[in-house]
Amino acid sequence: MAKYKIALMPGDGIGNDVMDAGKLVLDKLALDAEYVHADIGWEFWRAEGEALPQRTVDILQTCTCALFAAVTSKPKEEAEAELSPELQGKGLVYRSPIVRLRQMFDLYANLRPCKAFKGNPLNYRDDINLVVFRENTQGLYAGVEFYPLPDDLRAKLEELSPRMTAFAGVDSADIALSTRIFTRQGCQRIVRRAFEYARQFGYPTVTLVEKPNVIRETSGLMVREARKIAAGYPNIELWETNVDAMAMWLVKNPQNYGVMVSSNMFGDIISDLAAQLVGGLGFAASGNIGDTFAVFEPTHGSAPKYAGQYKVNPTAILLSIKLMLDWLGETDKADVLQTAIAAVIEEGQVRTYDMGGDAGTLDVGKAVAGRI
Ligand code: NAI
Ligand code: MG
Repeated sequence: MAKYKIALMPGDGIGNDVMDAGKLVLDKLALDAEYVHADIGWEFWRAEGEALPQRTVDILQTCTCALFAAVTSKPKEEAEAELSPELQGKGLVYRSPIVRLRQMFDLYANLRPCKAFKGNPLNYRDDINLVVFRENTQGLYAGVEFYPLPDDLRAKLEELSPRMTAFAGVDSADIALSTRIFTRQGCQRIVRRAFEYARQFGYPTVTLVEKPNVIRETSGLMVREARKIAAGYPNIELWETNVDAMAMWLVKNPQNYGVMVSSNMFGDIISDLAAQLVGGLGFAASGNIGDTFAVFEPTHGSAPKYAGQYKVNPTAILLSIKLMLDWLGETDKADVLQTAIAAVIEEGQVRTYDMGGDAGTLDVGKAVAGRI
């Protein structure tokens, strides 16, 4: 029996293209692993009313970890309209399968490294080495939302919060409410992950990105818990920043930052910003990591206009495989892969369109595999 069982979930659109490049590299790495395919994405929503079929969940429960590429997601009404006719009008509601996977498997840490590779013409600067830890299960993306605002909930809010008078003249039918729920444990575990990573890889600071001066209760809880955890790491400094200012500082002086930690939505935003500083979506890898399971994925989506053309840059999925190897403890193979990716970028012979070249997705996969 193989040491690892790894699920491969290509999903939709360019998800298939980049997964094929990923497979070339996985083959060459010759990990002691069994790879199993698992269905996910738009095709299964349309045909079955379920973008994350139960059979996929069952497969994942038998796996060490998973590699996911990309899926297509659409707003509620559009999604319903694309269901096959016999499934329409049944009250099926589309929800992003990757968001559900994060919640279902409690993959609370979203790890997003943004490192500038030498010779990448898309780098903003060459000395950027950022790692964002984004809380992945709570906050604004937890899905506790209301529209219209239910009357009993409204009455309770009016009873408890004087700020509700600001909406006194507005009909409940015209009010949408999204909640931002943080738990103490949720704050602690994401901050602890960030500090552990900083200690392991020798970063001198951890930057907390929140907005406690305005969003007092949720951001406030995060800041208080972060301070307590920071006290346990005397050699690592905690920097506290506000998310709006951080967006500015990241553009001005990205080289001054290392490990950053934030809640779900703010982390999503600053990690996209950070990714663009080192080449954009073609380079943005991520890991969704829990205590016992993890799903690795490029940050980009299914880019329908390039689907099946084998044109897009597979570096993001290759870097996601590198994160997966790190997580498995296969650090030698992880280093070999990272070196191979860096060499192909620096040589500059095999480049996809986003880097100004005309190589295809599989050319990059082959070039990196050839360096392993
Ligand atoms: P997208 O990430 O799919 O693509 C936006 C643009 O970025 C592309 O048109 C392309 O110009 C560029 N791009 C993306 N990946 C690239 C790569 N590997 N190499 C070179 N260029 C690349 O985002 P978009 O267009 O907003 O969304 C398309 C679909 O993907 C939507 O249905 C969206 O909901 C879904 N999506 C899924 C995600 C996921 O699976 N985790 C994440 C983001 C979007
Ligand atoms: Mg995003």
